[in-house]
Amino acid sequence: MITALDHIAIAVPDFEKAIKRFMEDFGLEFEGTEDVEAAKTSTAFFPLPPTSIELIHPLRGEGAVAGYLEKRGGGLHHLCFRSDDIEADIERLKAKGYQFLADAPSPGAHNSKVIFIHPKSCDGVLIELNQPADEH
Ligand code: CO
Repeated sequence: MITALDHIAIAVPDFEKAIKRFMEDFGLEFEGTEDVEAAKTSTAFFPLPPTSIELIHPLRGEGAVAGYLEKRGGGLHHLCFRSDDIEADIERLKAKGYQFLADAPSPGAHNSKVIFIHPKSCDGVLIELNQPADEH
């Protein structure tokens, strides 16, 4: 079941500059950065309860986020629904015809399990499903 809007992610070409903007200009609490090898992405989280802002930047210049930045510069990249049972949600949505970017969840930030729904299944919006570590 989907239980919350976990975060909204913005792809940024200049990671340090964007972190500074959200900390200093917007005055948000900065939780820190985390590299997610499985997604070739560096992340920075700014909790803004009941959700968070996630900045994403390519790790070592590779991966899907690098391709996104090349094509579009920065931008709103995805939103993320928190799930209390990601396997059940995947199965339910697959049965309704939703396509996913992977066959199974992979490790995400904060030891979560994550999977992305293909944007063409959702009017062009990339949606992440995320099951936090304490719920699996
Ligand atoms: Co995300």
